[in-house]
Amino acid sequence: PFDWYARMREAAPVRYDPERRTWDVFRYDDVKRVLDDDDVFSVDPQKADDFVEPEGPGEGLILDTMLFEDPPRHDELRGVVDEWFQPRSLADREPHFRELASELLDDAVGADGQMDVVEDLAYPFPVTVIAELLGVPASDRDRFKTWSDTLVEAASDDESADAFADRQQQIQMEMAQYFLEMIEDRRENPRDDLISVIVTAESSEGGRLSREEALGMCILLLVAGNITTTNLIANAVRCFAEADADLFDQLRGDDRALTSAVEEVLRYRSPVQAMSRVATEDVTMRGETIEAGDRIIAWLGSANRDERQFEAADAFQPDRSPNQHVGFGHGTHYCLGAPLARLEAKVGLSELLDRVENVRLAEEPLQPTRSSFIYGVESLPVRYDERR
Ligand code: HEM
Repeated sequence: PFDWYARMREAAPVRYDPERRTWDVFRYDDVKRVLDDDDVFSVDPQKADDFVEPEGPGEGLILDTMLFEDPPRHDELRGVVDEWFQPRSLADREPHFRELASELLDDAVGADGQMDVVEDLAYPFPVTVIAELLGVPASDRDRFKTWSDTLVEAASDDESADAFADRQQQIQMEMAQYFLEMIEDRRENPRDDLISVIVTAESSEGGRLSREEALGMCILLLVAGNITTTNLIANAVRCFAEADADLFDQLRGDDRALTSAVEEVLRYRSPVQAMSRVATEDVTMRGETIEAGDRIIAWLGSANRDERQFEAADAFQPDRSPNQHVGFGHGTHYCLGAPLARLEAKVGLSELLDRVENVRLAEEPLQPTRSSFIYGVESLPVRYDERR
């Protein structure tokens, strides 16, 4: 998409696409402005003129979450779990996360010198971590994968719109069923996990959360952090493998250098390329009038390549500084899971670097993800030399 972004940033930085009935915003400053102004640019899709009420039971649960609520309700919802995702709360769990990554890699890395980074590490690692934090069995992770994949999938040409909608609805009902059982269980047997935190907020005096909101939050936390972090880790290995041969050696054992390189991956190959907003009033940007009720896509992936903000924006520079990318968004809805995603990337990648060297991509062309706003690959086969 990057060539297209570059052209649009110059020729039509704010433009209306009649086919999608959507405004697109491509420049860094404009993207930030949209994400900064909750009053004018709402996250609530229900405010769009062409919003269609979801039908079946279980559908639209995700609409009742912080991701799609404006302040002040947003802040109340986020407040329920905010503490859990702070770096200092996660720090205690780092050794355990490291064990999880280590187990996965012990199975994957061997004398045959090949692995699939997605299947062997980038997918199972984040899903196992979030399953443990939520308090659901990691053994259900195949089911989680199907759910997450389906939710972010774009309708494809080989399937009718109705069949696609049915499949989406089916998944939502399965998820609702699954988490309702978990919620019931934690009411009786609270534990040290996120579902218990959510249940406590739901059932406490005054009820900070409705039943639907509690359910929506479980689903959001399961879904939001999986495909995104999978693609961060896989995109990182891809960037490192394409860079100078000695980058792996520079990053190995140097957490600061690795942390900085991960930030550059978030900028250069942002797992989340776009976020959606709705104008709540008429507003002018670059001479164009966006009307109340119009939908707007803020292209994070384009903002992150804007030459006005980043020197040599199309170059991958692992030690780039400053690096004010918007890969985790910006403002009120800045990614709740950013500290967790950064920690997972650091732990997963450093464990990988400890075990392998001379990493090469084994297959090209790569198969891009099936989602329209997620940037990454379906699989990433690599060859390497095992370190001993
Ligand atoms: C919000 C990206 C990992 C949970 C966001 C937003 C972005 C983003 C761009 C802003 C949405 C908006 O402005 O509308 C990413 C990326 C990740 C990642 C690139 C990994 C590399 C995670 C993880 C979790 C998570 C691990 C949790 C387990 C959330 C939640 C929100 C959010 C709950 C909504 C926050 C709010 O509305 O206040 N994420 N995310 N994310 N993310 Fe992430």
